[in-house]
Amino acid sequence: MPVHAFTTPLLLCLHLLAAALWVGGMATFHFAVRPAAVETLEPPQRLRMLCQALGRFFRWVAAAIVLLLATGFSMVQMAGGMGAMRWHVHAMLGIALLMMVIFGVVYRRRYPQLQEKVAASDWKAAAAALAGIRQLVFINLLLGVAVFVIAVVGRAW
Ligand code: HEM
Repeated sequence: MPVHAFTTPLLLCLHLLAAALWVGGMATFHFAVRPAAVETLEPPQRLRMLCQALGRFFRWVAAAIVLLLATGFSMVQMAGGMGAMRWHVHAMLGIALLMMVIFGVVYRRRYPQLQEKVAASDWKAAAAALAGIRQLVFINLLLGVAVFVIAVVGRAW
């Protein structure tokens, strides 16, 4: 049996685990963690907790991005390069790159601002910084769902 009879499914499996971690993690944050924190915690505890939780989640997202790019481009390479790819892979790559730029803005610019406001106990400014992060993460969640739909349904066309 040729080597890539095993390699491609293994790469696809790692690719899907990374995608599930990123997109599923954003959904968990948006639909469960933040609303629960709003219901149960006062602003100082809530903002401290969400700031900590986001910092931990973002480190996993950074690792997931490295894995998505490495596995995605390895699969492309094994299948004959981008020129040999069908439209759904081009669309996946384009939207994924946009999501990575948005993540970069959140992680490198917006998240340090949130940390700064939380450290200064400036709860009003911290809440505003968190609201900005929440909007961008929600946009990425919608884009991530679109990538899943395009990647899977797009194979049929
Ligand atoms: C948020 C980012 C991404 C998500 C959510 C995602 C999701 C997926 C999913 C769900 C599949 C499985 C399709 C199927 O087997 O039916 C897939 C396959 C694939 N992905 Fe991604 N992907 C992402 C980023 C990337 C990137 C950056 C590349 C780099 C070129 C890439 C290249 C590929 C390739 C080559 C396949 C196999 C396509 C096929 O066999 O038809 N993906 N991806």
